[in-house]
Amino acid sequence: MSAPIEVLGIETSCDESSAAIVSYEAGRVQLLAHALHSQVEAHRPFGGVVPEIACRSHVEVLTHVVEECLDRADRTGQDLSGVAVAHRPGLIGALLVGVTTAKSLAWAWDVPLVGVHHLEAHLEVTRLFANDEPSNDAVTSDRANAPIDPPYLGVVLSGGHTDLYVVEEGRRELLGQTLDDAIGEAFDKVASVLDLPYPGGPSIARLAERGDASAIRLPRTLLDRDSLDFSFSGIKTSVLYKYRGQNAASDTPLPNAPRVEDLCASFQEAVVAVVVEKVRRALVRTGLRQVIFGGGVTANRRLREEARRHLLEARRPVADRLLFPPIELATDNGVMIAALGAGRIARGERDGLELEASPS
Ligand code: KG4
Ligand code: ZN
Repeated sequence: MSAPIEVLGIETSCDESSAAIVSYEAGRVQLLAHALHSQVEAHRPFGGVVPEIACRSHVEVLTHVVEECLDRADRTGQDLSGVAVAHRPGLIGALLVGVTTAKSLAWAWDVPLVGVHHLEAHLEVTRLFANDEPSNDAVTSDRANAPIDPPYLGVVLSGGHTDLYVVEEGRRELLGQTLDDAIGEAFDKVASVLDLPYPGGPSIARLAERGDASAIRLPRTLLDRDSLDFSFSGIKTSVLYKYRGQNAASDTPLPNAPRVEDLCASFQEAVVAVVVEKVRRALVRTGLRQVIFGGGVTANRRLREEARRHLLEARRPVADRLLFPPIELATDNGVMIAALGAGRIARGERDGLELEASPS
């Protein structure tokens, strides 16, 4: 059996600068240290991520984040067997900071470098870490702790993507995606309409707890009967009109606007219903019975409850297992990059110093 290896992972694809060190042995991954600097405060005044600010902030903090991570793990570069970095997809300037840093470190430490796909990493961190703690909200029909092996349905719900994949050993096939806004983007834009702080997902989820989800009728855009694609722009516009009226330029709410809590609850309920229905369709279409969710929006507790209720605990369940990431690993982090990269480095995969960042 091969000896354990320890790998540093770097994530800078959007607005989090993060690094983590994992140890990997025979398919098992253990987290040694994680450091993260969130830029949320810097972007908040703008209601969304400003690429220029993201890029500059990564330049300022990334080396400190990596040092902090090494300190926490009590390691130096000489102890590591490789460096993994998110190299696509994401904001190109932001990715370049991570990729350039990772190349410099791999070169200086004389260890292999691998580029990791950010969306695959979101799914992999769920696959590897979902069952470690009960608080992770791992949902299984049999409460078994066995890790899920492919094939499974991969559901990525993030600020930039809303994708359904069939994931098989060594390949993934896209079944459906958003035709307009990504789901996290819809949360962020609706929060901005309602004057709630960025990032919108957590703000809306918090207020929704105090709202009445049946108070306001919002469209649940399912597209064609068999479509596995998503569209969230109609529901977003509907919230805008109900809150500010048809004069979209208005920056004040209508005098008789619904309560913000009720709008949040109704919006969350509608998008969750759409996601659950699309996942149900995808399971029926493919015959798959296992689902792995990944991406920042999967931190949403209502989504977790409704997915369990309709897919796993329905009278005729369409799934045997649903896995969600530990809440703290749902949004972007270096752990997911280290975890996916470590497996690849252990298998002997290498990307040279010519590794390129790509927005798509
Ligand atoms: O995966 P992620 O950290 O970054 C991307 O890869 O895009 O996802 C960020 C998105 C943001 O749009 C944020 O509003 C959303 O995840 N989000 C949530 C929740 N927490 C974060 N959306 C709904 N409910 C939440 N609890
Ligand atoms: Zn992400």
